[in-house]
Amino acid sequence: MDKRLESLKKDFLVALAKLKDRTQLDQLYQNYFGRKGVLTQALRQVKELAAEERPRVGKLANEIKGELEHVVREARVRLGGELETDRVAFDTTLPGTEVPLGHLHPITTIQYQIEDIAREMGFMILDGPEVESEYYNFTALNIPPDHPARDMQDTFWLTNGHLLRTHTSPVQVRALQKYGAPFRGIVPGRVFRYEATDASHDHTFYQLEGLMVDENISIANLIAMMKALLQGVFQTTVEVRLRPGYFPFVEPGFELDIKCLICNGDGCSVCKRTGWLELMPCGLVHPAVLRASNVDPDRFSGFAFGLGLTRLVMMKYGIHDIRLLLGGDIRFLEQF
Ligand code: DAH
Repeated sequence: MDKRLESLKKDFLVALAKLKDRTQLDQLYQNYFGRKGVLTQALRQVKELAAEERPRVGKLANEIKGELEHVVREARVRLGGELETDRVAFDTTLPGTEVPLGHLHPITTIQYQIEDIAREMGFMILDGPEVESEYYNFTALNIPPDHPARDMQDTFWLTNGHLLRTHTSPVQVRALQKYGAPFRGIVPGRVFRYEATDASHDHTFYQLEGLMVDENISIANLIAMMKALLQGVFQTTVEVRLRPGYFPFVEPGFELDIKCLICNGDGCSVCKRTGWLELMPCGLVHPAVLRASNVDPDRFSGFAFGLGLTRLVMMKYGIHDIRLLLGGDIRFLEQF
């Protein structure tokens, strides 16, 4: 039996070496491995051997079978018609693993919209430092050290005497110092306040500063710009009101409010039950700020506004709690 198996193997290898194509290989395979193939029959005969012979011969027979199957697979590759990878248990038709794609944060989306509108009106898009000096955050903006307006903005002070900027307004002075007048620019950015959080306050939020300085700039220019921005964002007419407001770096100063879109003016926690939301404090740039920026206030005037970008996003999407926006919950953000 051993000899029979060995000679089967030898014959097979000799025949295999002479093959010219896949058809011949398939035929040879059939002759040996088919149901009536010589190797299949030999294997069947192992069962009829004496019990003490059976394990040894069975093992030899299976080894030879395995060896031959291996050379057949190699021959298939050599003769074409089958790729090397066909030998791997890998289903190329299975769908791949999907890579989840993210998208822009709603604050970024609105910021980009405003940037587009402002850019069309000839405004630069500027950045400024988040760690700011006391000078630019307060003093240059006409808020001297003993001025009570410093108390309006609760500040994160750093141990080195600097602070986390409480507003984007310091970039007004930085920009004018760098580019001079005439100037048009907006500054979107993150600001920080040391205060307790609730539905409409967070320690970190976004503002968008606007500044235009030129000869003969008036409140009319200011109103035109603010209307263009709001209409662009809301794609509809929003109800606004302008009332006097006090900020040391503008004179006169105003508050632009929009009717609360959450409660439509009825009063809710976001608008503190007033029906209106302070959205855009603004005004004409104070001469002291122009002077600090090396701009001649007798020749130039300008308007400035400090849009509450985070609040605007809440209005636009009807978000009633500011803490959701930077809360890091992907289920919330996926809705936008
Ligand atoms: N910087 C002010 C704040 O965060 C907002 C502000 C008010 C900005 C009036 C302005 C402005 O540019 O003209 O409270």
